[in-house]
Amino acid sequence: MAIIAVDKIAEFVGQTVTIRGWLYLKTGKGKLQFLRLRDGTGIVQCVAFRPDLGDELFAEIKRLGQESSLSITGLVKADERAPGIPGGFEIGIQQIEIFQNAVDYPIGPKEHGVEFLMDHRHLWLRSSLQWAIMRIRTTVKRAIVDFLDNNGFLNIDTPIITPSAAEGTSTLFEVDYFNEQAYLAQTGQLYNEANIMAFGKVYCFGPTFRAEKSKTRRHLTEFWMVEPEMAFFDMNDMMDLEEEFVTYIIQTTLKERHVELAMLERDTSALENIRPPFPRISYDEAIERLNALRDELVDPDEKALLEIKWGEDFGSPHETALAEQFDRPVFVYGYPTAVKAFYMEPWPDRPEVSKSVDLLAPEGYGEIIGGSERMSDPDVLIEAINRHELPIENYQWYIDLRRYGTVPHSGFGLGLERAVRWICGLPHIRETSPYPRTINRMWP
Ligand code: 4AD
Ligand code: MG
Repeated sequence: MAIIAVDKIAEFVGQTVTIRGWLYLKTGKGKLQFLRLRDGTGIVQCVAFRPDLGDELFAEIKRLGQESSLSITGLVKADERAPGIPGGFEIGIQQIEIFQNAVDYPIGPKEHGVEFLMDHRHLWLRSSLQWAIMRIRTTVKRAIVDFLDNNGFLNIDTPIITPSAAEGTSTLFEVDYFNEQAYLAQTGQLYNEANIMAFGKVYCFGPTFRAEKSKTRRHLTEFWMVEPEMAFFDMNDMMDLEEEFVTYIIQTTLKERHVELAMLERDTSALENIRPPFPRISYDEAIERLNALRDELVDPDEKALLEIKWGEDFGSPHETALAEQFDRPVFVYGYPTAVKAFYMEPWPDRPEVSKSVDLLAPEGYGEIIGGSERMSDPDVLIEAINRHELPIENYQWYIDLRRYGTVPHSGFGLGLERAVRWICGLPHIRETSPYPRTINRMWP
């Protein structure tokens, strides 16, 4: 008997097959029991009919608890009304092997609080909405890699144990490295900059760490970031690349994961029109737009939320208000030097402005990409390292890149979980990670 995966069931109509998995839901009355069997690839309805199975086995089936582990053999029928994923198929049970009758599975159909569910993350991942999110996450990861691999990028890994800061010293996780001070990587960027001088266009894609003290809907302390870096790219070349990249990710996910997006009740119309070109506005223009928006408001609390002066970084309300003005992601470029990392190329004749670009997602999902053109002049870089009071000896190798064949270059980082949250339309980032780490959670 062929053991099949539920997602391939359409190929087996009229045949007898075996499916192994877990009992997702059981209903029934009289001589019938309906078992929804989950095998990791989908869910299929299996029907137990007492006259076929005998009283004893039928009684045993009736006693099965949620998440009991089973192997079911039976005939596959097409039946439009049958629930499941993909749905539309039913198995008439001929044989059943019970690995374990699971008793008192803690996550039932009733509502649970999110803390309870997060405490049971090891089990919660079996629930269909969590299953859908993880499958979308996997597709987003693959789309990221496919796009870069097909566009001339080489995937070079960067270290996780690092001797120096790149994105500010306040979010570093410290590691005692044999009595020396080390940190978990906040970014692979500095190494990417070395790698492009050897390979042209590179990316790293892996776990990234930030000791974020803030409790928000968009910060994790461990997240995945993909970081492309390109030699001979200026800020505008990079924006051209970013909009192609994000479009590919969105369109691939829409095509391959429409079932999962429908399960999440994601309104995909807002994603469908995401195509280049994306609007590009300067930070200066963004401040003007925010001031104009604020002037139109009457409610003093709403007004206060949009309060911002030139030189300040955006908070979540600012990003949301800006993004609402466009039907696709919007680039904001030219942020004040003071609110950004040390390595960004200054604007010509405006040293208070940097050649930085963030990409803000629509619908209030905020910044999904941060990037910039990098300083290419060694003296400018040394001055910046000193101004930020970073220990210059740790950056000698990084300064070397400007001594031996420096070129204009740019790069950016896209947060995987931020992107998945936006694509799935989730209120909080935590469900986009299989085992999220936040300021108050590293369990399970
Ligand atoms: O803007 P960030 O801090 O930029 C960098 O780290 C650059 N070195 C990247 C580069 O140019 N190579 O982070 C980039 C992106 C953010 O836009 C966001 O999507 C994500 O990483 N990110 C986080 N995601 C989840 N939780 C956090 N705490 C995050 N911090 C940043
Ligand atoms: Mg950023």
